[in-house]
Amino acid sequence: DSGNPAPGPLQGKKVLVSAGPTYEDLDPVRFLGNRSSGKMGFAIAAAAAGMGAEVTLVAGPVHLATPAGVQRVDVRSAAQMHQAVFAALPADIYIGAAAVADYTPRQPAVNKIKKSSESLALDLMRTPDILAEVAAQTQALQLVVGFAAETENVAGYARGKLEAKRLDMIVANRVGIADGGFESDSNAMTAYWKDGERAFASAPKTELARQLMQLIVERLQA
Ligand code: CTP
Ligand code: CA
Repeated sequence: DSGNPAPGPLQGKKVLVSAGPTYEDLDPVRFLGNRSSGKMGFAIAAAAAGMGAEVTLVAGPVHLATPAGVQRVDVRSAAQMHQAVFAALPADIYIGAAAVADYTPRQPAVNKIKKSSESLALDLMRTPDILAEVAAQTQALQLVVGFAAETENVAGYARGKLEAKRLDMIVANRVGIADGGFESDSNAMTAYWKDGERAFASAPKTELARQLMQLIVERLQA
């Protein structure tokens, strides 16, 4: 139970956040993962709870404390995250901040894969696009927000995803060696929606999360 929600602009709203990486098992001891720290998604969940929302946080494998007043569901794989997100619906707002694996092994090995030949090809299949599926829900949410970490053409790719996945907003940042992002505690990012955008100057993720949630409240009222 999330207790008595704090009074605030999101009182009475149900906010669903997904955060962190996913791990796709290859065999009992190995997996495909990514560098997502989960910090941004956890900070968003905390900020939403601080604004009075009832918050469910679906978390991939990360070692982060659960924010106060947030209901947390731990998952490992993209398939489990998909299942947990849909189990947590309906919601008023979905914020997809997780770095979901795009591909997963078609058939994880039951036993540890032994080395044999000089090369090894993995047979991978596409995972479901959780964000696009949530946005396509017949029981429409009030606001669906995605993230995009890009190494190039940030605005172009972000706006492309906004349209292709039929999102209400996408938050993009440049990732690369010197750009903060995945493992960093601070970050610069830009939010895009159909007829507008807002840049956020580099700041700690806790602060960025508060600013983003303020923008989400504005867009909800717009
Ligand atoms: N996403 C998702 N499910 C997936 C893949 C991505 O929900 N299977 C979500 C992410 O959580 C993020 C958004 O889609 O909010 C964009 O993810 P990103 O990896 O940037 O885009 P993709 O559509 O996967 O395209 P690509 O990786 O080719 O850039
Ligand atoms: Ca992807």
